[in-house]
Amino acid sequence: MRPRKGASGLVVLLLAQLTDAIPQLHKRALATSDPFYPSPWMDPQAQGWEDAYAKAKAFVSQLTLLEKVNLTTGVGWEAEQCVGQTGAIPRLGLTEFCLHDSPLGIRGTDYNSAFPSGQTAAATFDEGLIFKRGLAMGREAYAKGVTVLLGPVAGPLGRMPEAGRNWEGFSPDPVLTGVGMAASIKGIQQAGVVACAKHFIGNEQENFRQAGEARGYGFDIDESLSSNIDDKTMHELYLWPFADSVRAGVGSVMCSYQQVNNSYGCQNSKLLNDLLKNELGFQGFVMSDWQAQHTGAASAVAGLDMSMPGDTVFNSRRSYWGTNLTLAVLNGTVPEWRIDDMATRIMAAFFKVNGTVGKQEPINFSFWTQDTYGPIHWAAKQGYQQINHHVNVQTGPEGRHGDVIREVAAKGTVLLKNTGVLPLKKPKFIAVIGEDAGPNPLGPNACDNRGCANGTLAMGWGSGTANFPYLVTPDAALLARAIMDGTRYESVLSNYATSQIKSLVSLDNVTAIVFVNADSGEGFINVDGNMGDRKNLTLWKNGDDLIRNVSSWCPNTIVVIHSTGPVLLPWHDSPNITAILWAGLPGQESGNSIHDVLYGVTSPGRSPFTWGATRESYGTDVLYQPNNGKAAPQQDFSEGVFIDYRHFDKANASLIYPFGHGLSYSTFGYTNLRIQKLPAPPYRPTTGTTAPAPTFGAPPASNLTEYLFPSASFPPIYQYIYPYLNTTDPRAASADAHYGQNASQFLPPRALDGSAQPRLRASGGAGGNPGLWDVLYEVSADVTNTGAVHADEVPQLYVSLGAGAGDPRVMLRGFRRVSVGPGETVEVLFRVTRRDVSGWDVGVQDWVVGAGEKRVFVGRSSRGLELSGVLG
Ligand code: NOJ
Repeated sequence: MRPRKGASGLVVLLLAQLTDAIPQLHKRALATSDPFYPSPWMDPQAQGWEDAYAKAKAFVSQLTLLEKVNLTTGVGWEAEQCVGQTGAIPRLGLTEFCLHDSPLGIRGTDYNSAFPSGQTAAATFDEGLIFKRGLAMGREAYAKGVTVLLGPVAGPLGRMPEAGRNWEGFSPDPVLTGVGMAASIKGIQQAGVVACAKHFIGNEQENFRQAGEARGYGFDIDESLSSNIDDKTMHELYLWPFADSVRAGVGSVMCSYQQVNNSYGCQNSKLLNDLLKNELGFQGFVMSDWQAQHTGAASAVAGLDMSMPGDTVFNSRRSYWGTNLTLAVLNGTVPEWRIDDMATRIMAAFFKVNGTVGKQEPINFSFWTQDTYGPIHWAAKQGYQQINHHVNVQTGPEGRHGDVIREVAAKGTVLLKNTGVLPLKKPKFIAVIGEDAGPNPLGPNACDNRGCANGTLAMGWGSGTANFPYLVTPDAALLARAIMDGTRYESVLSNYATSQIKSLVSLDNVTAIVFVNADSGEGFINVDGNMGDRKNLTLWKNGDDLIRNVSSWCPNTIVVIHSTGPVLLPWHDSPNITAILWAGLPGQESGNSIHDVLYGVTSPGRSPFTWGATRESYGTDVLYQPNNGKAAPQQDFSEGVFIDYRHFDKANASLIYPFGHGLSYSTFGYTNLRIQKLPAPPYRPTTGTTAPAPTFGAPPASNLTEYLFPSASFPPIYQYIYPYLNTTDPRAASADAHYGQNASQFLPPRALDGSAQPRLRASGGAGGNPGLWDVLYEVSADVTNTGAVHADEVPQLYVSLGAGAGDPRVMLRGFRRVSVGPGETVEVLFRVTRRDVSGWDVGVQDWVVGAGEKRVFVGRSSRGLELSGVLG
């Protein structure tokens, strides 16, 4: 049996077995996902959610079934102004929720800022600054009327360096990503906007993420990719930053397109019911990625709370939920407690973050056009009115967001190599070379969803984008500085004008700065054969030849790379290449940020990933060809937790610059490691049971006339997804030939069970068992600036768990970015928690501190472990 794409309503309910199963033929050979039912309901006592729960319960208790369904189901693709919108509850003053991209700003609007990517933010290794970025993005979203901002990203984590959307997230290291997620979530939500941790989980590549998209590229497959991840790897690597997100109080999570262990992300009960809601104690709501929902009742009982954008496929006029969810609750296929839990989770997230119904800023933009006037119901071309108010949101209570952007991008630029030519000091003659230093001649927003790489690269492509309000190019910023300094300045903004470039950089006294790039993005756009994921790790547009040429003519060649992840650096050890900088995806202030690093105004950052010598050296790669016939391509995560530096360490694979590496304009010494064991309480596995599932408000009326479309009140909008029935004949209303099947025949055992449930030993608080965050050790070290200039240093704490070959050599567990004056010493303090020294025990189904000798290291990178000691 296969899910029938595009089939509506309860037809798909029959496919409920697929939630946890796979085509029988393959069952033995392929990875499978264990069922976990029932779906956990909210915990009234969950820490940090108590008030939100009480308010949500009071609110939901007043709702009719139709109103509850209206909260859970999007109104359809292009039905309103935002990329996704839920139904409103006008009777109680609740306006529609606006769910809108992206993780680096507000997508497709005007008078907003374009922030640096998550990956560049990670490269700052500065938790406070990542928070400031999140807060500024949240302020902008709030002022545009966004209820839920669709970010930040921890999936992809970055298993494969070629993966198209790694830049939307932070780093292949789960701890760095976890810190980035938590700081971003806190920032966004402090501004009154619900954050969305996405894409849950294993969404590590673009190719085959959706079978339909892949078919559009000519691949003959019926099912989306399955990321096959074992339990230990899931916990220790991919789930880790989501645990941090839940702990930070994130209000929503987006489930992902692809399958995990051959069960779709948005109907995978193991992922949603067990890991996310039960073990991590997530109290907010799960929304589907856009068209990632494949079933009706099956996804509801597997833990999905909101269907986005509401229609089965874009503009189909059909929904797995909407009318079908109303019917499913009425006929008992979806229990009443489950719809109440969905509605309560959605409202609790809103109350937790926003506080009050009626406090929302009205939505003042339309994602579908920048015209001032147009149809508010874009797909239907109905409701002609002012739809764009062009509200300028680029400055908030904390000041101009451009300043934060400039600071993040500068502090997130990594100085990979420097023979001493940097920082620049009034150089006599600068020659800037390369298309990447200049503008896109068609304008910074010329390519839809940034789906091209023309001119300087300041963000990747896809839904994770925003329109630039302006884009300061490196050429513009460096020219302005040169004029101030009396530096001779010429630029050739082409990669191919070889003879002009040669004559320019061959002159005496030239400091040549070559700008190059490599781009990637989301799978729905194909740029030069890169279907989201990069085809390779080389520079685009002949970048390697450009660098080789310039450095063969000019003995002082500085290379600046804008890219969505690591690229190969075959020329890195050329003596004529005097400096190499990775400037990531800097956003709108690109030129100013690179100026600040080149001239030593701002201290650079550290690399959030490893720079391998070859593509193969990473040990993992994108699956570019289907490998399972027409069935789901199988991507086995057989390397376990060994990705990025953990892999390079294990395989002794050759690398050029390690994870965490980054030079400074000063030098630093590390001394005096101190380890103090703290008297932590013993770990207490959680025991006991939950309360039974509650229901709120009056039970739904059984008379189907109550659910008919109220045609007397308003005319229906074309293609709009409503909760209503258009006839009192349920079979006809559901448009489902199989309507009337008994739920017990096709739903998994216990899916409808609302009785008290045992609590998992690894659960008990936000993010898991609270004992995981007990501090077992305090580790401190002295960091001395032994150079001549004030600079930032990023001491990093790694642990080794002493369990032998099954464990990484070292794992990052903490970092601090400190600013230190010349000759000054600062003490950096790290708190090592129980979680930091535990591994996931598959048998026990809990975190366990193993018997091996644990060591701690403090140093400047994963390969620069200056100090070490035993955690006794
Ligand atoms: C699909 C993308 O995967 C997701 O990240 C985005 O939020 C939605 N589309 C909405 O644009």
